[in-house]
Amino acid sequence: MLLEHIPKSHIARIAYIEKLEGELLDQALTELHQVPLLAENGCRNVPAGYVRACGISFGKLHDVVREDPLYKQIFHLVNGGSLVDENVLMNFFLLLKYSIKEMPGDIVEFGSFRCGTAVFLACVARALGIKGKVYALDTFEGIPHADGRIDFHTSDDFKDTSFDVVSKIIQELHLDNLVLVKGRFQDSFPQICSMLQPLSLVHVDGVTYSSVKYAINAALPHMHPRGGYLVIDDALCSSCIGALQAAEETVQEYHLNAEQVWPHLVYRISKTHGSSPAKS
Ligand SMILES: C[S@@+](CC[C@H](N)C(=O)[O-])C[C@H]1O[C@@H](n2cnc3c(N)ncnc32)[C@H](O)[C@@H]1O
Repeated sequence: MLLEHIPKSHIARIAYIEKLEGELLDQALTELHQVPLLAENGCRNVPAGYVRACGISFGKLHDVVREDPLYKQIFHLVNGGSLVDENVLMNFFLLLKYSIKEMPGDIVEFGSFRCGTAVFLACVARALGIKGKVYALDTFEGIPHADGRIDFHTSDDFKDTSFDVVSKIIQELHLDNLVLVKGRFQDSFPQICSMLQPLSLVHVDGVTYSSVKYAINAALPHMHPRGGYLVIDDALCSSCIGALQAAEETVQEYHLNAEQVWPHLVYRISKTHGSSPAKS
C-alpha cells in the first residue's frame, strides 16, 4: 500500500502524489479512491475529492490527464460538442478511471443538449470496460419550462440541437452503451426507471430550478449502494441561481456534504441515504 505510510494531512497527501509518475501515480490514485468512505454525510471520500480538485486546478493532474492517450483521443473526438468546461471532463475522466470502474452500474445525464459530454462519458466508459449504459435525457428541443423569478434561462434556450443528428453521430460511433431518452425529464425518467441498474454517476445539467430539483430527487433512490456520484453542474454557474436553489434544498433535506466543490459540485450518495431524508 503506497499511501499507508504518508502523513494523513490533505496537503501532505497531495504533495506526495505530486511527486509520483506513471504506474506509481496510477496505483496511488487507485488506492486513494478505494479508502473506506465516511458513511455519514453521504458517504463521501474527502481526500480523493481534494486530490482531484487541487490536482486539476493547480497541480500535475491537469497535465497528466491532458497527456493521457485515451483522454486525448476522446476529447478530440468530442471536438467542442460539450458545453462544460474542459476541467469538468478531466474530473469525469478521473472519476471513471479510478472509482466508477470498480462500481458497476449505469450513468444518467439530465440535460444533454448536443450530447458532447454524454458521448465523452460513453466513450471513456467503453474504453475502460465499464459495462453499464449511459442514459442521456433531454427534450432535444430546448428548456421546456423556466420560472422567470429565479431562472435566468428561458424556454427559448438550448433549442439549437437535434435528436436525429445526435442519434446519427452515436450510430456512426457504434456507441451502443449510449441511450438517448427524448422528452421532459419528468416524463422520460419514469419510463427508464425499471431498466436502470444502480446509478454510479448522475450528471445534473438541467439549468433551471424545476429541472434540477426534479432530476436530483428522481435520481436519489437509484444511487449505487457503494455511494454513487451525484454531480451538479449548474449550481455554481453565474446564470443558474434556480439550479443552485434546487441543490441547496436537497443538501439541506438530506444533510449532504460535498466531496468536491470544483470544477463542479460532487456528492456521494448511497441508495439508503437517498431514499430517506435525514431528520434534523
Ligand atoms: C446546459 S444544457 C446541457 C449541456 C450538456 N450536458 C453538455 O455538457 O454539453 C441543458 C439542457 O437541459 C435540457 N433541459 C432542461 N430542462 C429539461 C427538462 N425538464 N427536461 C428535458 N430536458 C431539459 C435543455 O433542453 C438543455 O439542452
